[in-house]
Amino acid sequence: MRREGPVIAELSNPFTRIAWCLLTITIAFVSAAPTSSQQFTPTTTPNSSACARISPATASLLAASPSASPTVPASLAIECLQSAFVEWQSTLAWLKDPPASYMLPPVDIQGGLDNISATATAGGFASEYDFQLAIVQLITAAHDGHFSYRPDIFKAFRFGSDLASDIISVSKDGLEVPKLYHKDIADLASNATKAPIAITEINGRDAVTFISDLNSKFSVYQDPDSQWNTQFATYANPDGALVVAASIAYQGSSVTLTYEDGQQKSEDTFARLSSGANFSGINSGEDFYNRFCNPESEASAAAPASSTTTPAATSSAAPGLPEPTISGYPIPVVRDSGSNTTSGYFLNGTGYDDVAVLSVSSFAPSGNINSLEYLTNFQDTVESFLSQSSEAGKKRLVIDVTANGGGFVVAGYELFAQLFPDVEQFGASNLRLSDSLVDIARISASIPANFQPTTVNEQLALQILAQNSITTNLIPGGVESPDGEMLTTVNEIISPVTLKNDRFTAYQNTPLDMPASDFNLTGTGSRSNPPAAVFSPENVVILTDGTCGSTCTLFSYLLLFQLNVKTVAVGGRPQTGPMQSIAGVEGAQVFQFSEVSSLANAVIELAPQANQTALLAGQLGILADGYALKRGINPESAGAINGKNAFSPSDSQTPLQFLYEPANCRFFYTADMLSKPELVWQRTVDATWTDPQSFCVQGSQMAVNQTKTVDPLFQLSLNRTKAANNPENASAATTITPSYWLISVSLVLVGGASLLSCL
Ligand SMILES: *[C@@H]1O[C@H](CO)[C@@H](O)[C@H](O)[C@H]1NC(C)=O
Ligand SMILES: *[C@@H]1O[C@H](CO)[C@@H](O)[C@H](O)[C@H]1NC(C)=O
Ligand SMILES: *[C@@H]1O[C@H](CO)[C@@H](O)[C@H](O)[C@H]1NC(C)=O
Ligand SMILES: *[C@@H]1O[C@H](CO)[C@@H](O)[C@H](O)[C@H]1NC(C)=O
Ligand SMILES: *[C@@H]1O[C@H](CO)[C@@H](O)[C@H](O)[C@H]1NC(C)=O
Ligand SMILES: *[C@@H]1O[C@H](CO)[C@@H](O)[C@H](O)[C@H]1NC(C)=O
Ligand SMILES: *[C@@H]1O[C@H](CO)[C@@H](O)[C@H](O)[C@H]1NC(C)=O
Ligand SMILES: *[C@@H]1O[C@H](CO)[C@@H](O)[C@H](O)[C@H]1NC(C)=O
Ligand SMILES: *[C@@H]1O[C@H](CO)[C@@H](O)[C@H](O)[C@H]1NC(C)=O
Ligand SMILES: *[C@@H]1O[C@H](CO)[C@@H](O)[C@H](O)[C@H]1NC(C)=O
Ligand SMILES: *[C@@H]1O[C@H](CO)[C@@H](O)[C@H](O)[C@H]1NC(C)=O
Repeated sequence: MRREGPVIAELSNPFTRIAWCLLTITIAFVSAAPTSSQQFTPTTTPNSSACARISPATASLLAASPSASPTVPASLAIECLQSAFVEWQSTLAWLKDPPASYMLPPVDIQGGLDNISATATAGGFASEYDFQLAIVQLITAAHDGHFSYRPDIFKAFRFGSDLASDIISVSKDGLEVPKLYHKDIADLASNATKAPIAITEINGRDAVTFISDLNSKFSVYQDPDSQWNTQFATYANPDGALVVAASIAYQGSSVTLTYEDGQQKSEDTFARLSSGANFSGINSGEDFYNRFCNPESEASAAAPASSTTTPAATSSAAPGLPEPTISGYPIPVVRDSGSNTTSGYFLNGTGYDDVAVLSVSSFAPSGNINSLEYLTNFQDTVESFLSQSSEAGKKRLVIDVTANGGGFVVAGYELFAQLFPDVEQFGASNLRLSDSLVDIARISASIPANFQPTTVNEQLALQILAQNSITTNLIPGGVESPDGEMLTTVNEIISPVTLKNDRFTAYQNTPLDMPASDFNLTGTGSRSNPPAAVFSPENVVILTDGTCGSTCTLFSYLLLFQLNVKTVAVGGRPQTGPMQSIAGVEGAQVFQFSEVSSLANAVIELAPQANQTALLAGQLGILADGYALKRGINPESAGAINGKNAFSPSDSQTPLQFLYEPANCRFFYTADMLSKPELVWQRTVDATWTDPQSFCVQGSQMAVNQTKTVDPLFQLSLNRTKAANNPENASAATTITPSYWLISVSLVLVGGASLLSCL
């Protein structure tokens, strides 16, 4: 489910030093919730109001006219574009020169930033909007849901179209290529007597080309079919919408649709104000800049935060019992405590009576459910589902992860641990070795275990170091090698590995299987000796819509690689042939700019006095200053980088993000399926086991690869036995506080951009 949410939530217990980075889910430019925003159109807005200026005309003026929006101050060009944060993006080398398995064009992010900087300094941008849009589009060209920057000009409003807001992409029978329709037209009903009229063109261009072109500019997914699926609402992705229907970028003053029967409809677009955006007194581009962009101006400092600054959930306020059924889904046999993301079902009907379905639309909590409550409830929900499935004699399992953009890594591993308790969980990732990362690693590791802070600042810095989810990857004793050896010195961790002429840390894995006082992964501590697997791998299928990202990819690859579990993909572009099953961001952890910046500050504070001046003057100082944050729509979620590459056991050279993973079969959504997940699940059963030949789209059947090889570098890791990790070993290596190794459940964020960090 795509929605707004807190970016970082922290456990209330300060001693549990887990940075619960909440996974935010990917949305390409979805409009703000109707309740939290107002809509203005030229016809309904009084001319006397300053808000009248925020009409499509004004917005386009801001977008296009140098006089409406001031030119870029050189300071921004120089400071904002220092690529200090971008240095941490783990995929730069592959983006510049991707392997053949990558489906999208290459992009040189650092070169592109240099270009933008040069153009800005030379006065080559007509407006602030053009300049900021250039940055956003460059970063979006990485098509990486963990890599985003949302600068401040986009704080005030977003653009939309009602006419294009209800378009769906559906097939007559799941096999014929889909066409585009308005969602509610009566002729889509299964009992309809005449054929529905499809949309063939948007703004005078072939509709499929039009949508695909906008996706290639604005989507954070790295596959054209997963990009396609994000554009349409489904039961698991109710907020899906075309770029032209909801975007932070201006998409023209009107939308015109052309239909199969030659008819045309045209409608003006609108700008939707972010809630809290105060347009009072704004009469010029200069005023706009000072209110929303210029961090030095008082007006800007006084401007209320935009609607996207959802505060982090603290403790839950007596939630009460959830509804028995999750909206849009059938009656479950088990469901979660209120996140509306995890639920289990037994299929009805002949041929399906041995099938259980586990629907997991996210690995993160939503609403006011806190992280620990979510994880504990997720564990219980899955456990109850499996035991009920076993009692009811269910033999086959559909795991529906459509629209699952990720969440807590530990939730993905927990699900795997319950499904296949006997199988070791492979993990290998690395971080790009930027100079500032090396400084952070070295300085953190050099702080003596008995260090006593003498000032409040030092105390705060120590706290930040202990609670930051980035340091968990850099602290000796917090990570192990993929084959289970604890990395006990900083030199082992940052010992450089060269890939694609770029430098990375040693391959590492975060041990999640150490007992902890607040949560034990199934198989560890109090949850040792779990029940045996209920389903055998050949009776399990993963259902995706291609957008499976982050934690969802880590979870899926465990099943795909280690157990040869089958996958089915639903939807995609109107063409036959195969489709990728896993094509959301495939990185292992997202780092918010704000986390990097506060870590840089803390490390400078704790560095030897003699080093501080030099550190402040270098990359670390730029990160600490965080100008890019101040220029974000919201400093806490201004931007993010993919901090960690994830690798498959078969390939230590190319991150998963750049590999192609086809589903074993594909079918299209029919109109009925969009609101009846049980039809999708039945179809998944038919396409997987009943008669793939008849139920898979032509040319989409791909055999399961039964002969996967293991990269020699990773050979040992798949052979190691469980429970090799002794917490005492880890704590002995701890340099700062004994609580360091409590990071047993390190949370890694997944998913793509949220409303907050859409790019
Ligand atoms: C809006 O107000 C301006 C002056 O403030 C005036 O020139 C313009 O004609 C008005 N437009 C309409 C549509 O009333
Ligand atoms: C920089 O801009 C030039 C001129 O527009 C273009 O040819 C070149 O490809 C750009 N380089 C990058 C790395 O974006
Ligand atoms: C189709 O079925 C719906 C209810 O399922 C009903 O409301 C509608 O009248 C039917 N339409 C026709 C043309 O039979
Ligand atoms: C909006 O801005 C005006 C001018 O700065 C100020 O007087 C007013 O109080 C602000 N309104 C709100 C709701 O903040
Ligand atoms: C199975 O049928 C029952 C009774 O009609 C219904 O309540 C339930 O939602 C159905 N479950 C599924 C998964 O379709
Ligand atoms: C879950 O769904 C219920 C309605 O069934 C809704 O009231 C609640 O707000 C939803 N919770 C979240 C976190 O979306
Ligand atoms: C995890 O297991 C350990 C060791 O058995 C136990 O002390 C601890 O209480 C358990 N944690 C939870 C949350 O049950
Ligand atoms: C601190 O300064 C010393 C002396 O110049 C130098 O050897 C050391 O590398 C510096 N440490 C860091 C983290 O910059
Ligand atoms: C199966 O996977 C291995 C990597 O594990 C790869 O080298 C091989 O080409 C794949 N085989 C097929 C038929 O795709
Ligand atoms: C790993 O185990 C497999 C069989 O289980 C064995 O063939 C292989 O030699 C082992 N590899 C190493 C490096 O021990
Ligand atoms: C502790 O770590 C060392 C080095 O990795 C390893 O040799 C030793 O077996 C570990 N001890 C325990 C008790 O796991």
